Amino acid sequence: TPLHGLLEALPKCEHHLHLEGTLSPELLFTLAERNQVALPADAAYASPAALRARYAAFTSLDDFLDFYNAGVVVLRTAADFEELAYAYLSRAARTANVRHAEVFFDPQAHTARGVAVATVVAGFHAAALRAQADHVVSALLVPCLLRHLPVDDAAACFDAMLAAGLFSPTGTGNPPLLAGLGLCSTELARPPSAWAGIFAAAAAQGIRRTAHAGEEGPAAYVAGALDHLGAQRIDHGTHAVDDSDLLARLAAQRVLVTACPVSNVVLRVSPSLKDTPLRAYLAAGVRFSVNSDDPAYFGDMYLQEVYCAVQEAFAFSVDDWALIARSAIEGSWCGDERKRSIG
Ligand code: ADE
Ligand code: ZN
Repeated sequence: TPLHGLLEALPKCEHHLHLEGTLSPELLFTLAERNQVALPADAAYASPAALRARYAAFTSLDDFLDFYNAGVVVLRTAADFEELAYAYLSRAARTANVRHAEVFFDPQAHTARGVAVATVVAGFHAAALRAQADHVVSALLVPCLLRHLPVDDAAACFDAMLAAGLFSPTGTGNPPLLAGLGLCSTELARPPSAWAGIFAAAAAQGIRRTAHAGEEGPAAYVAGALDHLGAQRIDHGTHAVDDSDLLARLAAQRVLVTACPVSNVVLRVSPSLKDTPLRAYLAAGVRFSVNSDDPAYFGDMYLQEVYCAVQEAFAFSVDDWALIARSAIEGSWCGDERKRSIG
């Protein structure tokens, strides 16, 4: 790839990475054995290799989510969560020069199985501390509420995290615990307005907000995430490109779009990388970062591989990449001091 050296050396921030999406088929089988968890009686789970082969054939977001949600059940102890997160953070730091990662996780996917959110957060937090000590990488955790579950379940989850004092809205703590609130999972027929009450409560507590929107859903859901959830970021946002007024609004409000171009191709949101809206964002002045989403499910395309694939498709200039890298730092939720030390 032209600019390969620059792309490797670029100090990166990742804002759209689901820790559960870094669970490899191999670790999935290892943890199933260790924790005595039965895997689905489906031919896809015959072996890690069979599972990998099935992952290469996702037909939609929901087809992927069925596997992603089936996989998380092997994670049970704080040590499991720590192992998962440390493997991601150290790999990101080593292979992609990721200096700062704001990572998602799905508390309800674990509490639904009787795993306390405090256990999940304790494991992830320990991993963040260890990665910070071993590598030059900082991490912030962002829990995502799940759209495939009832809104009441999401509200109870948010209330429990708030009551447990897990949020650190000011970004204090070393590293802070939960740095914001997100929303993810299946999107079609689930417009953002249903979660408005929870997001208003988060805003009232000074908690930062982001939401997956416009991945399979229409541009109107991206506008809805801004209007009804007060989203300060948009995760994916792919279909925002269908509405030029909305692109202008994202640019004017300096909303960071956390683009996941490889994910969009694998989940058939976009026919090819060239069809993802990154050039349209540059033209419209929309700020975006480039992210990997669920790399263990998407051909092990971690951030360095994603950057290189994007460059193969778009042949961005050095100035384009400088803008992308600067936008990613400026749109991060860490403090100004940390931002200055990233790049
Ligand atoms: N959860 C994990 N990955 C996701 C994605 N790409 N979209 C929505 N929810 C998700
Ligand atoms: Zn995502």
